[in-house]
Amino acid sequence: MKNLYAISGVTGMTGSELSCQFVTQDHKVIGFDNFFISSINTVKDIVDNPSFIFYNYDINCVVQMDEVCEKANTQKVECDGRLVVINCVNVVHTKHFYEVESTCHTNVFAMKGFLERVIAIGTDTYINCSTSEVYSMQSWNDNGDVLESDYLARSFNVA
Ligand SMILES: NC(=O)c1ccc[n+]([C@@H]2O[C@H](COP(=O)([O-])OP(=O)(O)OC[C@H]3O[C@@H](n4cnc5c(N)ncnc54)[C@H](O)[C@@H]3O)[C@@H](O)[C@H]2O)c1
Repeated sequence: MKNLYAISGVTGMTGSELSCQFVTQDHKVIGFDNFFISSINTVKDIVDNPSFIFYNYDINCVVQMDEVCEKANTQKVECDGRLVVINCVNVVHTKHFYEVESTCHTNVFAMKGFLERVIAIGTDTYINCSTSEVYSMQSWNDNGDVLESDYLARSFNVA
């Protein structure tokens, strides 16, 4: 079965590794990245593969996100499997947390917009790659809102 994977932050560490594996397994990948901390070199082995569609786009740009999601919507018709969205975009390094407005815009508002778009196009599975900021600082114990192990289990089932 051929799945369609839509991956944000696709040239980052997680996104690029997943993309190479999925394309090798004959799945299709649509991904975007604005090269905030990465480059096209991470996907050089698959960048010319027709099963890998790449956009040099920013998650903060509404027009660009509309285009990516529209493309995913049309491509999923050609795939006989599931549409799986994997959100890897993140302003990660601590030094950027001092640039509160731009970091918050990317990590919170733009990400929410992206999530709303992928729900609207009928995504089957949404996997958010993130850290304790999302899981809550209590995620390591039974009183945590969301346990990291819950998400890991689901992620491995899909991948
Ligand atoms: N790598 C790990 O060991 C690890 C562990 C736990 C959690 N995580 C989390 O998983 C997620 C992905 O991790 P990673 O190691 O692949 O991160 P990464 O920093 O390598 O990848 C993130 C990608 O997002 C891109 N990006 C940043 N801002 C963008 C924007 N505005 N528009 C488009 N692209 C943008 C960056 O250029 C980068 O390629 C992160 O949320 C991270 O906190 C990673």
